[in-house]
Amino acid sequence: MKDIYIRKDIIYVGAIDAERRIFDELISLPDGTSYNSYLITGSERTALVDTVDPAKKEVLLHNLEKAGVKSIDYILAHHGEQDHSGTLPDVLNAYPMAKVVTNVKCKNELMDLLLIDDERFIVIEDGAEISLGNKTLRFIFTPWVHWPETFITYVPEDKILFTCDFFGTHYATEKLYPDSNDEIHLPAKRYYAEIMSPFRNIIRKNLEKIKDLDVEIVAPSHGPLHRGMDFIYQCYSDWASDDVKNEAVIVYVSMHGSTETIAGFFIESLKKKGITVHAFNLADADIGDIAMALIDSATAVIGSPMVLAGPHPKAVFAAYLVKALRPKTKFLSVIGSYGWGGKLVEQLAEMLGSVGAEIIEPVLVKGYPKESDYKLLEELAEKIKSKHLELGLS
Ligand code: FEO
Repeated sequence: MKDIYIRKDIIYVGAIDAERRIFDELISLPDGTSYNSYLITGSERTALVDTVDPAKKEVLLHNLEKAGVKSIDYILAHHGEQDHSGTLPDVLNAYPMAKVVTNVKCKNELMDLLLIDDERFIVIEDGAEISLGNKTLRFIFTPWVHWPETFITYVPEDKILFTCDFFGTHYATEKLYPDSNDEIHLPAKRYYAEIMSPFRNIIRKNLEKIKDLDVEIVAPSHGPLHRGMDFIYQCYSDWASDDVKNEAVIVYVSMHGSTETIAGFFIESLKKKGITVHAFNLADADIGDIAMALIDSATAVIGSPMVLAGPHPKAVFAAYLVKALRPKTKFLSVIGSYGWGGKLVEQLAEMLGSVGAEIIEPVLVKGYPKESDYKLLEELAEKIKSKHLELGLS
């Protein structure tokens, strides 16, 4: 990090991980990431805000040593996930007087995951405050951003909000702040889509809880900081709202070309009807791109051939992804091809049932599509257009 000073007594001590390309063995990281940790030096006491992923523990310990930190009173553990908590045992060893400040849920997680002793914790409640002398740490519980225990910390004297995963970005940069909101908008959307999307309803409650805070700086634990809260707050308000657009996500997989032909025709039909289509061939699609497209799309359609009397495993994965991300998608359908029978639609429909969207009559084609099949696909596209129009989307 080129400039570590956020305030004269609040510095960046985290680690950039520009080379990392996958998270949780699931989420791709095209822009790398960072594990932000901050040191707040009050007139009487010192607090470390989160730690870093264990792979970068030497960076954090070196940064603390370089900053001349002789003692730490408090280590805020906003979140139990190891990319922020994993270096806690090392920091506790290096600074034996330090206490981990967290809530009871996170304490239990940290005792389970990292085997930290009970006596090293100070347990705080929602709204509690701890004084560092001339600075106050005010704790605000914000569950499910991204696990149930997550909370954030506001320092009113500096108008800084430390948000851990909330408002974060997997975006490695040597700059404390992006050059513009444009630089960070897409990475922030990808991050929201992949990590925060399943918790849309509770995110709205969390946004409401912090809306009146006077914030000059948002300091998340991934990616660059935000100057003020307006930009990222508005992004989250939009993404977490119930509003959808006249857009459709089509994810498909094809073995011998039939489903690809069906999907290609269907995609063009939707486009001709004025619907913006985000199409993904599951053979090589990035799940982050699919997740981003799902944020605003009114409709999602899965295309699959029949394999062993059911959907292709990649289509099952897509259905699972849609179900897990709990998008605000209003309409779902299935298109595909079969040879001699099976339960492709039934199995996908069962998986997608919990999304809460209306399932529009699927179109399954025997073998390669014929004139009558193209007509059915055209009718499905027309139905989707009508449904969008009913919602006022055009
Ligand atoms: Fe960045 Fe949920 O950990």
